[in-house]
Amino acid sequence: MTHEQKDRLRSVVVGIGSYLPNRIVSNQDLEKSLETTDEWIVQRTGITQRHIAADDERTSTLGLRAAEAALADAGLTGKDIDLIIVATSTPDYVFPSVATQIQAGLGMYHGAAFDVQAVCSGFVFGVATADKFLQSGSHKRALVIGAETFSRLLDWTDRTTCVLFGDGAGAIVLEAQASAGTVKDRGVLTSHLRSDGRHFDKLYVDGGPSATRSVGHLRMSGREVFRHAVGMVTDVMADAFAATGTGPADLDWFVPHQANRRIIDASAEKLGISPEKVVTTVQYHANTSAASIPLALAVACGDGRIKKGDLVMIEAMGGGFTWGSALIRW
Ligand code: ACO
Repeated sequence: MTHEQKDRLRSVVVGIGSYLPNRIVSNQDLEKSLETTDEWIVQRTGITQRHIAADDERTSTLGLRAAEAALADAGLTGKDIDLIIVATSTPDYVFPSVATQIQAGLGMYHGAAFDVQAVCSGFVFGVATADKFLQSGSHKRALVIGAETFSRLLDWTDRTTCVLFGDGAGAIVLEAQASAGTVKDRGVLTSHLRSDGRHFDKLYVDGGPSATRSVGHLRMSGREVFRHAVGMVTDVMADAFAATGTGPADLDWFVPHQANRRIIDASAEKLGISPEKVVTTVQYHANTSAASIPLALAVACGDGRIKKGDLVMIEAMGGGFTWGSALIRW
């Protein structure tokens, strides 16, 4: 441990919560309106079902529920939070942000709240951003929320995309705590963010206020995304291991973005992470974009797999492209 690492601030996870809409749409349900089969979807993606938001539920509704659950888990209220970061690509409105709506929903009239937009990597970008604020000492406790209603952005006649996504939200509370700064101490140990805008047209929405004055639909070259995904996410995980002097064998849990079972399995295999350490929820939630990691974390914390002191790797890749990783001592 170097002198500089002493008495530093670490962003420690002190609460987690999630929310899934009640309505479940199975692959069999989709067979009724699309030329698709349960077998095709399961074989290519691992997905069996997805949750879809009710008409009166918005991204902010889902995010607020997840935030309330995370605060309850932490034994805190909105009064104790001074930063809210919401990762989303499906905001209720172009503006104001989902974060300010959740802030109001929590009865908070202090602190700062804003959205980050990095598509499926949004939660990792949100954690990394909150971590910088907390490490600097400028803020004490942050809610980092991933919340999405991707069902509203899909072309439900396009079988190549609409079968892949779902709605939901997850949230964590991060608290700045004094730390000795070793890899054994709790908190976000390191985070690594990347982006490369040359890949714009492989995964994008074909609308927006400035480009088309409309909302548009999600478009994806699935094969192209697949081709890049494994290399990109394993690169940033290798960066996290290198920065902390840890390796795949040190991980207790690997909680990747839940887009596709084959991408998850291939990424774990490439780094030599054993399958029993991989948390997979894509089969139940489908791809909920920025919400997928906190939803998976909430499942694994809820069923007792992730425990205080465990070493947890999160990673994601999404439109842009954007990709990133964060290594957390839970
Ligand atoms: N049901 C039945 N058949 C289908 C369906 C469907 N839902 N969708 C496509 N097909 C057909 C295609 O039309 C094609 O038929 P053809 O051979 O007669 O032309 C055939 O299946 C194969 O299509 P491909 O697109 O080549 O299928 P592929 O094996 O690549 O699987 C998939 C598609 C699942 C999208 C895959 O490419 C993939 O997982 N890509 C990564 C996508 C992803 O994970 N994106 C999210 C990451 S980033 C983010 O999270 C936003």
